[in-house]
Amino acid sequence: MMSSSAALVLALGLILVNFTGHCHGALQVGFYRGKCRLLVDVESVVATVVKAKLIMDPTITPALLRMQFHDCFVNGCDASILLDGRASEKTAPPNLSVRGYDVIDAAKAALESICPGVVSCADIIAMATRDAVSLSGGGRYNVETGRKDGFVSLATNVNLPGPDIPVAQSVATFAKKGLNATDMVYLLGGHTVGIAHCSFFQDRLYNYKNTGKPDPNMDPSLLVSLRRICPMNSARDNTVNLDQDPASSLRVDNSFYKQIMMRRGILQIDQDLATNSLTKATVAKIATGDDFNAKFGEAMVKMGRVQVLTGNQGEIRKSCRAVNKR
Ligand code: HEM
Ligand SMILES: *[C@@H]1O[C@H](CO)[C@@H](O)[C@H](O)[C@H]1NC(C)=O
Ligand SMILES: *[C@@H]1O[C@H](CO)[C@@H](O)[C@H](O)[C@H]1NC(C)=O
Repeated sequence: MMSSSAALVLALGLILVNFTGHCHGALQVGFYRGKCRLLVDVESVVATVVKAKLIMDPTITPALLRMQFHDCFVNGCDASILLDGRASEKTAPPNLSVRGYDVIDAAKAALESICPGVVSCADIIAMATRDAVSLSGGGRYNVETGRKDGFVSLATNVNLPGPDIPVAQSVATFAKKGLNATDMVYLLGGHTVGIAHCSFFQDRLYNYKNTGKPDPNMDPSLLVSLRRICPMNSARDNTVNLDQDPASSLRVDNSFYKQIMMRRGILQIDQDLATNSLTKATVAKIATGDDFNAKFGEAMVKMGRVQVLTGNQGEIRKSCRAVNKR
């Protein structure tokens, strides 16, 4: 027979084991359960909005993925990227293709009408991105929630890696955010969807590292087609798919890794992943059918933990575009 105090310790232990399985710091899976009019499923409110938007525009998926990356890498996952303002993050040059603000606004409006002041914009980014990924062929991962929204958004804080960053330097940049080299390879799998403007890889087509020649590590047939879309001295900055498998350029899957192994990467950093000794083994593993969907989800959850605000460090914004008046 167990004494009642031993039974209590055991029960507490079980609760704690269970707790650590779902909880990371202040974040947890299902944070909003019971917090929005008791029975409203916050995650399904967001999912309904995302689904409706995605039917109209499948490029919402790359838009949201890039938004979450930019939010989390500048000042932490605090929705600072959403704030409007003359010199806020969204005005900084690397913003270019960050889109999808309307999706977040719509989800926020839906939630505010049901339970005002409960759900943070930072969490809406994480939930909406997860939904878009899973509706685009990716795995459905459990998002952690419980973030607060930040007060500060400054273009001068924007210090994102550029497309020509060397792999070792990129590994170091991710390490500063608590993400290891393996996480980085999975996260760059975000480039399995979406587009890049010619200006981000033009050098590889005509004057790679000031050689006056194209990047020798690019598939010659890809070079021909990219040169057609991105002519030298063009006034227009055209776009091409980051995933060059035409059947899969809007699907979240491992085809991006297969493409870069065939030297069909668009950005320098993407192509380098397949050849650099720090990352190529992981790339080869994913390309040959490692469980990309599940692992990508895990990496997204990990990225969602970067420098989150909790308690009084942040607030629940009324509008995702402005801090609350105090
Ligand atoms: C070293 C890290 C990274 C670099 C240097 C980088 C760079 C870039 C560049 C230059 C573009 C093209 C933007 C344009 O032409 O407007 C782009 C697009 C994109 N990036 Fe990344 N990126 C990185 C990491 C990530 C991560 C971690 C994710 C998400 C998990 C991500 C998701 C995307 C998506 C989805 C697009 C397409 C956006 C669209 O179609 O609207 N990137 N990235
Ligand atoms: C993004 O940056 C460009 C170039 O710096 C700027 O002209 C544009 O207004 C910015 N986009 C937004 C949404 O502020
Ligand atoms: C990187 O982090 C992942 C996920 O947290 C972990 O499973 C993996 O073992 C780590 N890899 C290295 C090389 O530390």
